[in-house]
Amino acid sequence: MTGDDQLEESEQGEPLPDGGAAGADDVALDPWGSSSVSDYRKLFEEFGIEEFDAVLEEVPNPHYLMRRGVIFGHRDYRPVARALQNDEPAAVLSGFMPTGDPHIGHKLVFDEIIWHQQQGADAYALIADLEANSARGMSWDEIDEHARNYLLSLLALGFDPEAGELYRQSANREVQDLAFELGAEANFSELQAIYGFDGETDVSHMQSVVTQMADILYPQLEEPKPTVIPVGPDQDPHVRLARDLAERMRFFKVSEAYASFELEPVERDLVAEFHERLEPAEFDDDTLRCVHVAEALEEAPLSELGIAADVLRSVLTKLTEAGMEPIRPRTRFSDRRATEEAFDALIDAIDGEKRVYENHIDAFEIDRDEAEELARQVEVDTGGYGFRPPSSIYHRFMTGLTGGKMSSSIPASHISLLDDPEDGYNKVKSATTGGRETAAEQREKGGKADECPVYELYAYLLAGDDDEFAKRVYDECVGGERLCGDCKEQAAQLMKEFLEEHQEKREDVADLLEAAEIELESPRRQ
Ligand code: TRP
Ligand code: SF4
Repeated sequence: MTGDDQLEESEQGEPLPDGGAAGADDVALDPWGSSSVSDYRKLFEEFGIEEFDAVLEEVPNPHYLMRRGVIFGHRDYRPVARALQNDEPAAVLSGFMPTGDPHIGHKLVFDEIIWHQQQGADAYALIADLEANSARGMSWDEIDEHARNYLLSLLALGFDPEAGELYRQSANREVQDLAFELGAEANFSELQAIYGFDGETDVSHMQSVVTQMADILYPQLEEPKPTVIPVGPDQDPHVRLARDLAERMRFFKVSEAYASFELEPVERDLVAEFHERLEPAEFDDDTLRCVHVAEALEEAPLSELGIAADVLRSVLTKLTEAGMEPIRPRTRFSDRRATEEAFDALIDAIDGEKRVYENHIDAFEIDRDEAEELARQVEVDTGGYGFRPPSSIYHRFMTGLTGGKMSSSIPASHISLLDDPEDGYNKVKSATTGGRETAAEQREKGGKADECPVYELYAYLLAGDDDEFAKRVYDECVGGERLCGDCKEQAAQLMKEFLEEHQEKREDVADLLEAAEIELESPRRQ
């Protein structure tokens, strides 16, 4: 937690093939730990990350990382996919801690940002210099050097700095101000529960957390819009907190209600069910009233209701007290953080029948979605942010070339985007494979492409957009037609060419970087 761990970047860790069950106990989502994910299924089951495949159909021109399942999970990506589909405003943002050289794991995130930019999203990439300094103890000089290398690679891969925005946390005043405001909505116990902070955690480290929250919401300062944060699954705790804070900053909460008083969600479901079930025609003046629902509830056996006895007691009390008040479905706007001006503006903005209470307004002729839009619009018009909860997509961690984790402390395990192309070639040549003991055995049984770091290189990078090529490598491998020696030679050659080309492009974009608006040198010295 303290950041002295050597496994710095979010791309490191050990992946398992689909549904791999080994080591299923080890699911740690720790942004500053040795991000290792041994069972992706647990992320779906325990953390509520959804499978990316389920939204793939809604994505226009999906990137190959999406098509090949390298991007395996998401939170709430649909609004982003729809916005891209309909040419509506959307944004993409991710951040990089400048703790070392950018490597092929970071390239996944660069590609994800660039792809979204090409699909029409506003694109943001930031250098997390405050986090690198506070959580990793990097000096400002080191940070500047690494930051430059990240940015050159990002531009070389196709990020358009004129259409998009690059910034460093420390130099972005708006981010700092937003971080301060968001900090008022989170307290120490919460950070302790999420990140394991304790009495020894320094305050700057905590500040870097609220800064990241502000980074994530920054694209929405101009106007609320669907925003995706492409990251490794180790960053999911940050995403969840940012989604919570976005919600807590809202002026109004929209919900469904049946009467003037508040019901807990389980209580509301119960009343909703009886509202469906009971016929108003059966009652005097054709009106279903609170007492009627209370009577019906009292007659129903508890076992049939499927709720706890105290829930029943509580809902009965509320209904009985309300007595003859009619049960009528309505959309409720509850005041969460609204100013008086905003509350009054909302009253005016609601069309049709409405009732105004001390802390909420009930509307009878507006559905839930319309109400959400209205609440957001009024909030924005009266000086609020109106944030939409940010979405995220998650990519798999790459396996180290030496097996196990890809780690920046083990040079042979990863390929840096700055590696001499010849070194890149040699690293691939000496990589471990999913091959068999002997060529004869490989011909007979086929290789284990699913467990092979070299196959990963093809799928994640070397095959580029060419699905057929990636599939051919796979099929030939598992079919026993491909032997590891030749396969690695081909991969090593492709890697060498990739690095040569990438490094040339890095030189070409140096001027572009100079012209970009990001500060390349920190005024801080230490
Ligand atoms: N915490 C991220 C990392 O460790 C860096 C980061 C800072 C970031 N701000 C962000 C990532 C906003 C995504 C979005 O790499
Ligand atoms: Fe890996 Fe290629 Fe060997 Fe198959 S043939 S196991 S993909 S190195």
